Amino acid sequence: MILTEDERRMRDGAEGPAVAAAMDLLIRYGHAVGAERLCDVRNVAGTMTQPSPVKARLVAEGGRDKAFAVINLDSDGDFAIPDMRVPTCQLQHGFGQDALDIVPYPRGNIELQADAEAFYGRHGVNILATCTPYQVGNLPTFGEHCAWMESSAVIYANSVLGARTNCEGIASTGAASLTGKIPCAGNHLAANRPGTHLISVDPKARVDSFLDWGMLGYFAGGVAGEDHPVITGDFARPDLTDLKHFGAAAATSGGVELYHIPGITPEAPTVEAAFGGAGNVPPATAAHAYGPAERRQVYETLNDIGDSRDVDFVLLGCPHASVDQVRQVAAALEGRRLSASTELWIMVPRALREIADRSGYTAVIRQAGGRVLTDSCPAMSRVAPKGTRVFATDSAKQAHYLPAILGIEAWFGTTRECVDAAVTGRWNGALR
Ligand code: F3S
Repeated sequence: MILTEDERRMRDGAEGPAVAAAMDLLIRYGHAVGAERLCDVRNVAGTMTQPSPVKARLVAEGGRDKAFAVINLDSDGDFAIPDMRVPTCQLQHGFGQDALDIVPYPRGNIELQADAEAFYGRHGVNILATCTPYQVGNLPTFGEHCAWMESSAVIYANSVLGARTNCEGIASTGAASLTGKIPCAGNHLAANRPGTHLISVDPKARVDSFLDWGMLGYFAGGVAGEDHPVITGDFARPDLTDLKHFGAAAATSGGVELYHIPGITPEAPTVEAAFGGAGNVPPATAAHAYGPAERRQVYETLNDIGDSRDVDFVLLGCPHASVDQVRQVAAALEGRRLSASTELWIMVPRALREIADRSGYTAVIRQAGGRVLTDSCPAMSRVAPKGTRVFATDSAKQAHYLPAILGIEAWFGTTRECVDAAVTGRWNGALR
């Protein structure tokens, strides 16, 4: 791999042993993925603070520096961790501290996480505590190279913002934060970014709601796998929350990190541009149709695990909700009261919670018996309200993952259907 003078200096220890270990890791990683060089990054997003038994043991043995060396740098060196070299943010936590007295979180994990938050904050990591950094001010510019974790954030950065990032891990983001480098491979290279699969939305399955964008994303992930779907056909213009849901779903049913919607996403002014040239556009006969049958199939898959219609728990805000989503939930709950047997949580970034509070939305939701919670989600903390057997959600991602993680039944539907289920305690959703 070709290294610049600056990269060689870092590798050889001119900036200390932690940076040298970080460069060593990136060079090994670069070789493994066939990168010819490293690219400069000034935007790193990682999930550094989540507690784990291994981390707890390392912290007990050698403190946070030791844990960072082993987990984030794949090094057994004994050295102090310097401040981050480039802007770095923390994504979602393992636990939301504001739910400590609501759900049975292990107190030791909360303490470990708080200690990690303080350590990373002191070293220059912005503690955003959300899987949606782009909702709280971390908006990379078009074409900017980044090193991000979290599949729903990665697909948003690549597709909606036109930034360039692979789906990184704990070690590579740790090394990137100390060096400002990441292997230049995969989504960083223009040649790897054109569309691969053409999906055509049939007018009879017109996509024009949050629910529909999530279902179309789930379909697109199933079709494209780890490649790049291109969406054409009959759909209403999506907004931020629609694209957030679409991307999270596509990264769930498949491993999609980049998609194009001609006329909507920035690298695809046209279908031809989405595929990297007119000659690469698949013939119409090769398009994957998304019609009423496919739409129903996705809906049934996401509701496959629902059996009992008695709903114990309603979970909204995956990926973390926008302020407008919180406003909609508050409007749907105004003057109503949750069923005595049902809990409702809406997960939001902690920075947006402040806006929801000051806009009065949190108070309305709380008055109805619901909760606006921050920092994490049940899939991360692996905890739901005590006794939950059946949950309902408007998120294709949570409907896919949570039943397997917690061994519970799931219903998937519109936000309004979920709110109604929280009020009545019964699931009455249906595909319309
Ligand atoms: Fe975010 Fe949890 Fe969903 S981290 S994307 S709310 S699974």
